[in-house]
Amino acid sequence: MTLPAQFEGRLTLPLIAAPMFIVSGAELVLAACRAGVIGTFPSLNCRTTDDLDARLTHLDNVLAADAACGRRVAPYGVNLICHRTNTRLAADTELVVRHRVPLVITSGGSPRGIVERVHGYGGVVLSDVTDARWARKAAAAGVDGLILVCAGAGGHAGTMSPFALLPEVRAFFSGTIVLAGAISDGRAIRAAEVLGADMAYMGTRFIATEEANADARYRAMLIDGTAEDLIYTDVFSGIPANMLRPSIRQFGLDPDNLPAKNALNVSKELNIDVKAWRDIWTAGQGLTTIHDAPPVAALVARLRTEYEAALRCPVMPDRHPA
Ligand SMILES: Cc1cc2nc3c(=O)[nH]c(=O)nc-3n(C[C@H](O)[C@H](O)[C@H](O)COP(=O)(O)O)c2cc1C
Repeated sequence: MTLPAQFEGRLTLPLIAAPMFIVSGAELVLAACRAGVIGTFPSLNCRTTDDLDARLTHLDNVLAADAACGRRVAPYGVNLICHRTNTRLAADTELVVRHRVPLVITSGGSPRGIVERVHGYGGVVLSDVTDARWARKAAAAGVDGLILVCAGAGGHAGTMSPFALLPEVRAFFSGTIVLAGAISDGRAIRAAEVLGADMAYMGTRFIATEEANADARYRAMLIDGTAEDLIYTDVFSGIPANMLRPSIRQFGLDPDNLPAKNALNVSKELNIDVKAWRDIWTAGQGLTTIHDAPPVAALVARLRTEYEAALRCPVMPDRHPA
């Protein structure tokens, strides 16, 4: 196990509630940390850098007060989008450093430039990658860990099987490996560890919780749906992502016969305003195992029970005694 020392003794499960645009509001992050899993959110969920400052102050105060009462709380994390189109990156990074955010997750570009700043105050940097080439680049930038976003993930999913990508990355990277993609129950968290991961990364499962900032119809699509309700398409966000077919149909669009190459054209052609994430919703293939929308604390307790049951899973010789 290569768990960052900063996380030791603070977690109920080796689990990060993944950052999700719009969905990961302050309530979800706090509920995750209080349940003992790392709660995270994209900095861009705050409309301005000032809003981000206020959000970070709130989280710092509430979690510090909990800890002062002897309550065990997991650290929290902020996701910085490192793509050149993110004009707020420099300002948001300054705030993250000023608040000494315990975990920084970079996605959409190189973490170079961020690693040194975060290490300067003792924080942890994990970087999202979808293949070994990007994993090597992030590793060379000095990150503490890599998040392998594999096939079947919600949002901008990769296309690699975790069975192929994880051992390939482990062969050259000795830091923390976090596995992502369709992990929705405690057994899958354990399976990620068996495969060689140090932690699991779970997005979609947390959309169907009471604390998530998600439309009731979005939650219902997860509860009622299966992986067959997903289409892997770049039409709405420009990068391939798993999108919920029923959310596309809501706008009178046929998911198998989309009228144009990108959402802008879709909006223009049909004279409707549709945006990825806000209107056209994403989910990972793990939605098949989602049947309810409990409070986060109840979900994490259940994940823990499932994880423990998986720890007791019989191995081959027990099933087939000689
Ligand atoms: C609704 C939604 C929004 C997301 N937004 C972001 C984001 O803003 N930044 C990011 O790095 N990843 C984002 N992701 C990807 C998640 O962080 C994570 O990689 C993914 O959810 C893991 O797969 P799973 O959903 O199958 O558990 C998003 C995923 C979902 C489902």
